[in-house]
Amino acid sequence: MTSAEGTRESGGTTSIEVRPGADKPYSVLIGEGLLDELAAALDGATRVALMHPRALRTPADAMREELLSARSGIEVHALEVPDAEDAKTLQVANYAWNVLGSVGFTRNDLVIGFGGGAVTDLAGFVAATWLRGVRVVQVPTTLLAMVDAAVGGKTGINTDAGKNLVGAFHQPSAVLCDLRTLETLPPNDFAAGLAEVAKAGFIADPVILELLEQDPTGHQHLRQLVERSIAVKAEVVSGDPKEAGRREFLNYGHTLGHAIEKVERYNWRHGAAVSVGLVYAAALSRLASGLDDGTADRHGAVLSAIGLPVRYPQERWPALLDAMRIDKKARGNRLRFVTLTGLAKPTMLEDPDPGLLTAAYSEVAGA
Ligand SMILES: NC(=O)c1ccc[n+]([C@@H]2O[C@H](COP(=O)([O-])OP(=O)(O)OC[C@H]3O[C@@H](n4cnc5c(N)ncnc54)[C@H](O)[C@@H]3O)[C@@H](O)[C@H]2O)c1
Repeated sequence: MTSAEGTRESGGTTSIEVRPGADKPYSVLIGEGLLDELAAALDGATRVALMHPRALRTPADAMREELLSARSGIEVHALEVPDAEDAKTLQVANYAWNVLGSVGFTRNDLVIGFGGGAVTDLAGFVAATWLRGVRVVQVPTTLLAMVDAAVGGKTGINTDAGKNLVGAFHQPSAVLCDLRTLETLPPNDFAAGLAEVAKAGFIADPVILELLEQDPTGHQHLRQLVERSIAVKAEVVSGDPKEAGRREFLNYGHTLGHAIEKVERYNWRHGAAVSVGLVYAAALSRLASGLDDGTADRHGAVLSAIGLPVRYPQERWPALLDAMRIDKKARGNRLRFVTLTGLAKPTMLEDPDPGLLTAAYSEVAGA
C-alpha cells in the first residue's frame, strides 16, 4: 500500500483530499485555528447545529460566538451532548432530531460534529438521517477522531443489540483538524489515539513507525503523524468507501481488539484494546502469513514505548475466542483477520487453524 496522493500545503494548513467513489470529494484540513475554513465550509447554510460534548462547552461557546461574528445572518444552535459513549444513544439522537425540527432545519443547513469519535459518529448519524441526509462538517478534537473516526463517513450509535450496529455511511463535506484542540486531551486518550497511528504505520506507511521510534510520546512529530495517518485512511477510503474490499485492512489489530473491548465491557479505551490486538495480529502474521521476526517484534516495541498495553491475561483466551466467534456469527461470515506478509503489506487471513490462533495468543498472554 502507498499513502495518499492529493496532499497539499498552503499557509500553514495541509489539505488531504478524500474521493469516496460516487460521493462528493472533500478535504481534510490539518492546521491550527481553522476558524476561517470552518466559516467557509458553512457555505449557503442558514442554520448550524453545533454538536459538542459537555467537556468542550467552553471552546464550543467560543466557536459559536466566532461563527456568529464571521457570518452575518447565520443561526448557530449549540447541542450539548453527554461525554463519550453516553452520547451515542437513540435518546440523544432523538433529542438532536427534536432540536432540528423545532428550529426548522432544512436541507441547506449544516451539522457540525465538534468532539471526539463519539460525537463525530453521532453528529454524522443525525446528519445522515435528518431529511434523509444533510451536510455535516466534522471538527474532531481527539487524536483518534482526527486520524480515524471523523474521516471516511462511517457514522452510528450504540443500541441494546450492540455497539455501532445502527448507522449509515454518510461522508462529511469537510473535516477540520485543529491541532490546538489536542492540548486539553487527557494523556491516556492521546496515547490511545497513537495505537491507530501506529496501525497506519504497520499497514501502509513505515515512516510513521520511524517517527514514533524517535519520539514515542508522539508530541514532537504530532503534525506529521496526524497528516500521514489521515493520508493512509484517505487513500484506503477513496478506493473502497463502503468497506467491500481494501478498507478492511484498516481493521488490522481490530478482530482481537474488539473482543477485548467486549470482554472488558467497554471499560477499556478502544486504542488500548487495539494495541494488544496489533501485537496479536503480528504474532498471527508471523505464524500464518510469513511475516519476518523483526517486523513482528517491532509491534510490541513501538506500542509499549508509547505506554500502551501489549499483554492480556492467559485465562481470558476462551472468553476472547467466544467473543470473536459471536462477532463472526453476527457478521454472517467467517472468522477473518488482517495479517501482514511484510511491512506495509496487508492481506486477509480467513478461518485460520484454531491451533495457530491459540499459538499466536501465547505471545500476548501475560499479566
Ligand atoms: N466512525 C469510525 O470510522 C470510527 C472509527 C474509530 C472509532 N470510532 C468511534 O469513536 C469513539 C471513540 O472516540 P474517541 O476515542 O475520540 O473518544 P470520545 O469521543 O469518547 O472522547 C473521549 C473523551 O474525551 C473528551 N474530549 C474530546 N475531546 C477533548 C479535548 N480536546 N479535550 C478534553 N476532552 C476531550 C470527550 O468528551 C470524552 O469524554 C467510539 O465510539 C468509536 O466507536 C468511530
